[in-house]
Amino acid sequence: MQAGTELRITRPDDWHLHLRDGAMLRTALPYAAELFGRAVIMPNLRPPVRSVQEAAAYRRRILDRLPPGNGFQPLMTLYLTEVTSLQEIRRARQTGWLAAIKLYPQGATTHSEQGVSRVKQIYPVLEALQELGLPLSVHGEINDQDVDIFDREAVFIERVLEPLRRDFPDLKIVLEHVSSRTGVDYVRAAAAGLAASITPHHLLINRNQLLAGGLNPHLYCLPVAKREEDRQAVLRAAVSGDPRFFFGSDSAPHWVVNKEKSGGSAGIFNSPTALPAVVQLFEESGALDSLEAFCSLNGARFYGLPPNQDSLILRKTAEPVRVPDSIGEGETRVKVFQAGGPLFWQVVQGLRPGREVLDRPVPAL
Ligand code: DOR
Ligand code: ZN
Repeated sequence: MQAGTELRITRPDDWHLHLRDGAMLRTALPYAAELFGRAVIMPNLRPPVRSVQEAAAYRRRILDRLPPGNGFQPLMTLYLTEVTSLQEIRRARQTGWLAAIKLYPQGATTHSEQGVSRVKQIYPVLEALQELGLPLSVHGEINDQDVDIFDREAVFIERVLEPLRRDFPDLKIVLEHVSSRTGVDYVRAAAAGLAASITPHHLLINRNQLLAGGLNPHLYCLPVAKREEDRQAVLRAAVSGDPRFFFGSDSAPHWVVNKEKSGGSAGIFNSPTALPAVVQLFEESGALDSLEAFCSLNGARFYGLPPNQDSLILRKTAEPVRVPDSIGEGETRVKVFQAGGPLFWQVVQGLRPGREVLDRPVPAL
């Protein structure tokens, strides 16, 4: 495709986003809010967002940090624990701004200590979700030291997801950040009601980029990047146009100091590059026809929401777009996902007020 070519798409949404809180929220929010219409905001704060009241307060903090004129809509989630009450679930349904309940297997990822270890304990909640039509968003990895980290998605599907779907056939479920061929095949084979979000990093990297030629902690995320054949399966699903697969960045910022240490945190901050990287990959895959479905239509349809009414225009550039290596300074620095190489797509129309909020002073950690 020639430089100068323009592409108009319905404004995309991000169906899986970590915005954090405090200084990190200020740093990360503008990059998502300038582009995306809505985003599903993950609840794994410390302490986690477990009640509608906490979610309402968190939503308020996000809205308060948006620059004037930015209509970004945070769709909140609740962090499911073994003691989440049915009353909380009913309240959640009534809000109109709470998109899903998030299931973290205990210990499987960042801040999941209060997650679920005995799935039977949450059966009444799952029953209620099924009845109310509120989706369950799932971190699909088993946390078992006896299971190889590269197999944890597949084993989760076998031991947890499949029995759960059998017991709750009408429960709407999103298998978040699907990362393996097994995961993709499972979603494809399922009846309606099961969908998967797909991240830019699982579309772009395999475990070689993480581990070969020097360990790169900035590409460490969970689920961990897998084999090339897995990446290709995830890519085929994304470009297929199949409505069950949609964009969820899983942009998960951590301060550089917490990434570059022993026991460093899992998570990749990709909000600044996610969209152009996906456009470029779809272009390279000859699949620009499916781009809008993946980024702007499929997720909304799954969540029962209308697509955004406005649009973005992207332009192919002759020169690589400048991507900052990191944003912030010193202790409050976050590395930006480099998306596997130079990027040649840029949003030229439709950006909303965003990054300038970075100029506001950032409070100490
Ligand atoms: O890489 C990840 N980072 N995966 C997750 O599941 C959580 C996330 C985070 O919150 O940092
Ligand atoms: Zn996540």
